[in-house]
Amino acid sequence: MRNSTNSPQIAVAPMMDWTDRHCRYFMRLLSPSALLYTEMVTAAAIHHGDADRFLRFNEEEHLVALQLGGSDPSLMASATAQAHTYGYDEININVGCPSDKVQSGQFGACLMAKPAIVADCYRAMLAETDRPVTVKTRIGIDDQDSYDFLKDFVLSLVAAGCRKFIVHARKAVLDGLSPKENRSIPPLNYERVYRLKRDFPELEIVLNGGLDDLARVDEVLEHVDGAMIGRQAYHHPYFLAELEQHFNPAWEPPTRSEIVLRMLPYIESVVRKGEPLGRVTRHMLGLYSGQPGARAWRRYISQHAHLAGAGPEVLLNAIAAMPAAA
Ligand SMILES: Cc1cc2nc3c(=O)[nH]c(=O)nc-3n(C[C@H](O)[C@H](O)[C@H](O)COP(=O)(O)O)c2cc1C
Repeated sequence: MRNSTNSPQIAVAPMMDWTDRHCRYFMRLLSPSALLYTEMVTAAAIHHGDADRFLRFNEEEHLVALQLGGSDPSLMASATAQAHTYGYDEININVGCPSDKVQSGQFGACLMAKPAIVADCYRAMLAETDRPVTVKTRIGIDDQDSYDFLKDFVLSLVAAGCRKFIVHARKAVLDGLSPKENRSIPPLNYERVYRLKRDFPELEIVLNGGLDDLARVDEVLEHVDGAMIGRQAYHHPYFLAELEQHFNPAWEPPTRSEIVLRMLPYIESVVRKGEPLGRVTRHMLGLYSGQPGARAWRRYISQHAHLAGAGPEVLLNAIAAMPAAA
């Protein structure tokens, strides 16, 4: 399903500890048009902590969406106001994370059972920005695992003004499964997401979960407006370049080595500011996955990026250490 610019929306999922600003800078080189989500940031952390640390990003990252976690409308509103000032292109509410920490803070997936609270947050946030405010949710939680449950949740957000939903197409099990297990054990149910789009064609529906090859993405886009990719984009980042070229054939994909060269000035500036090299290179370990030399690339970087004084030359040496020209 195509939007008005005739290209479907491809997004990279919010992933804690993974999709930080260094990762997003790297991913942007692999895909000029994907919408990149931040890690989840709690509204409370922005309120009580060093907001700039959580919110700053590189201009090159656009289009970039901030994902917020929380359930207090006034905190969510003030975090949204700050996100607006920083220039985020979208602000997203996390109604999908199942971790214990998140549940005790009363946000994440458990909020699917409290749509009125999410709607209150939504209204308060919408008053602070003219950018899209969106919701990322699961298809259900625990035994509340029916189409009607999902539909009622969505409708309460629609009444608050929400027009875009990202749906991770598996339920969350709040008790008994770890966050990691919650990403693989509950079965995927794309049909429930397709039905939502069929019943509410005016809504923008982005499907997430298990999209790990082009054929699947193509198939899903027959039914919904967008595809959000998580783990595959992180572990095999060149997949993003393949997607970009697939949907935007005029785009000439850079080779993996060209990507590395384009990262060097950025890395140099990060290291000059005193950040360890490894904070950037850890996101690049999968760049050559599936290619000859992938293991040598990973090994060289893992062994050298943390050494004192390590800088961009580590990447050039890593390429040189690969047995086959990449
Ligand atoms: C390491 C990791 C961290 C994640 N952190 C978040 C998060 O902060 N917010 C969120 O909504 N989902 C989070 N997720 C879930 C992903 O956004 C996505 O919904 C899930 O991985 C399914 O998509 P995939 O099969 O394409 O990976 C995380 C996933 C991973 C692997």
